[in-house]
Amino acid sequence: MAIIAPSLLAANFLHLQQDCDMLNHSEADWFHLDVMDGRFVPNISFGLPVITQIRKATKKVCDVHLMIEEPEKYAQAFKDAGADILTVHIEACNHLHRNIQQIKQLGMKAGVAVNPHTSVDLLADIINDIDLICLMSVNPGFGGQHFIPHTLKKIKQLKEMIVTNKSTALIEIDGGVTLENAASIIHAGADVLVAGNTVFGSNNPTETIAKLKSLS
Ligand code: DX5
Ligand code: ZN
Repeated sequence: MAIIAPSLLAANFLHLQQDCDMLNHSEADWFHLDVMDGRFVPNISFGLPVITQIRKATKKVCDVHLMIEEPEKYAQAFKDAGADILTVHIEACNHLHRNIQQIKQLGMKAGVAVNPHTSVDLLADIINDIDLICLMSVNPGFGGQHFIPHTLKKIKQLKEMIVTNKSTALIEIDGGVTLENAASIIHAGADVLVAGNTVFGSNNPTETIAKLKSLS
């Protein structure tokens, strides 16, 4: 059964408490929190003050996805804000190994996100040091985009690498996950599904989360 991580990027920011309560009472496992800086990606989302408040509104895992340049400058601040998992982009890190160690030393789980154009082969020398790989199935920056089908091949490749290396890293798929494609994504080897618009854009988000959760 996959871990379901709704992305709050698609939540209603005027009713954030209600959306958090909805997730708390749903079968959602994690809160996926997308931080964008307007430099690494061509969009700006929310940051530390919002995450600090969300932390107070839930006991579930806060899975923070940093789409920012120089993430090492802010790791401590995101720890203080309440992140349980901190994911940095491979494309934003010249010293990825150091960045991962920093995140783990701060007491968080460490994730690495890879853009659609980035080969999963680049993870070979870090696969045993990380807790999560976030495979971007859209170009990061915006919710509500279409799933890039090539991602399925990357999931299978990555799964093989994980098994071969006896890594415990989870595969998270982020972008364009729907009730229609979720089963094939899980079947390819994904452990965690991020879903923004599919959850928050539906008439009954709680039921949509339950449907995603029931797929295997
Ligand atoms: C995209 C973000 C995603 C996004 C997913 O840059 O990293 O987490 O919120 O949204 P949907 O599920 O709507 O594609
Ligand atoms: Zn994300």
